Amino acid sequence: MLMEDHKLQRVEISQRLLQRCQQDNGDEIQRILVTLDRLKEAIRRKRPGLLRRGVVLQHDNATPHSANLTQQWLQRYGWEILPHPAHSLDLAASDFHLFGPLKRHLGGMAFETEDDLISELRNWFDNLDVDFFRVSLTKNLAFHLGTAHPHILKDGSMIYYGTHFDYCKAYNFISIPTQPESSEATFEGAKIVATIPSRWKMNISYTHSFGITENYFIHLEQPLTFNIRRLMMMGLRGTCLEECMVTHQDESMDILVIDRATGKRIPIAFKAPNGFVFHFINCYEDLNHIVFDACFYPSGTDIIKKKYLDYLAHNFTQSYTTDESVHFARFVMPLKFDEKAEADANLVTLPYTTATAVIKKKGKNVVYLTPETIEGSPVVDLPRINYDYNGMKYRYFYGTSAFAEGKQLSKFDLVEKRVLTYDAEKNLTPGEPVFLARPGATKEDDGVVVSTLVADSPDAQSFLVVLDAESFQEVGRASLPHEVKMSLTFHGNFTSKVF
Ligand SMILES: [Fe+2]
Repeated sequence: MLMEDHKLQRVEISQRLLQRCQQDNGDEIQRILVTLDRLKEAIRRKRPGLLRRGVVLQHDNATPHSANLTQQWLQRYGWEILPHPAHSLDLAASDFHLFGPLKRHLGGMAFETEDDLISELRNWFDNLDVDFFRVSLTKNLAFHLGTAHPHILKDGSMIYYGTHFDYCKAYNFISIPTQPESSEATFEGAKIVATIPSRWKMNISYTHSFGITENYFIHLEQPLTFNIRRLMMMGLRGTCLEECMVTHQDESMDILVIDRATGKRIPIAFKAPNGFVFHFINCYEDLNHIVFDACFYPSGTDIIKKKYLDYLAHNFTQSYTTDESVHFARFVMPLKFDEKAEADANLVTLPYTTATAVIKKKGKNVVYLTPETIEGSPVVDLPRINYDYNGMKYRYFYGTSAFAEGKQLSKFDLVEKRVLTYDAEKNLTPGEPVFLARPGATKEDDGVVVSTLVADSPDAQSFLVVLDAESFQEVGRASLPHEVKMSLTFHGNFTSKVF
């Protein structure tokens, strides 16, 4: 319990710290003002025309830079300030890593025109070694992008995935134990359990989700990538993230299988056709195979880049056509096969799938996959399963065709290879269907599926629909008042557990 004396002591300490901080900042502001005076004088001597045309200054958001005295100085001389986004990864990396080497490179050079300078800058950036970008972007961060879809294991621990922009440690799997109720720490005991390099030195695959089975992590190294050099230059060139993406139209979508016990890739390269996946549906092991189901865009990666952004630009009203859209696909990877198997012989021996896996050269551990699809099945993404079956052999999954012309929710039966659908009413878009098991359920589809149906027009009313998971018939709905806005999906994880 805090006594009166303790409280007074705290106030006194805070006041001393505040005075100290003001003193330090005051000194720092004076140093900035002196630096600005010197900079202005140097420009006057070396580039007098620039002072007339107007100086554009970039500095970060440090307190001395935004202090009143500094702002008054800049206004007095009419210097324009380039905005500096807060917590900007790329700019921070540039501040501490890029500008020093750049300054050294340009030292002693003279340029007749700005075009000459720009040309030299481009030349310098284009010839930088890959290690330059690795170090700069990766010095202090464990990961730069994280998955939206971690896996929760039966013991309550989590497996998370993070992309790193150093190609040597691009793809990382992290184990996060369940945290004690009393702990305030969120990631106590977290450790990287597998790190896999990128196949490209300057490009890292875009990863949205990953798979897990009893013994393996499944990672997609797909041919839609982020280019490290372009990422590094984003802040300087004023480009957006989409412009940092590179598609590799003629390359395969590689499925990397990583042994969870060793953290190493198994020595078989699995190559699927060029395409793209946002969402894994499920993965499992069966009779020395790994079965991997996904919502697969088979029309190549470029269409994702183009259409996804078109879709956003058209305010979510544009639809993919069926041909260019996303469908169920099952890839099957044989883990054991005769090394002397004939080229082009199907190595998949599971009786219930038409997916194939072939080698093209005898004795090589490079296996080419073609997926199984379900003829006539609807467009489907945002898949959900009964999560008790995650990583295990399963039968059903649920999805939405929110992004297609026919707006439906669907239930896929992967044994019967048939699909039940629930058609959305006019001007309603179905969201992500979440399966909830009936308490005490013994069957995989014993429960309900809950989904949003979001109004696309002022006349329609959004509601939450509850479907019987077995029959896929509506059993109830909860409508929202017109003025209440609802999110399209439940996309994400909800849990009461502490990790
Ligand atoms: Fe997602």
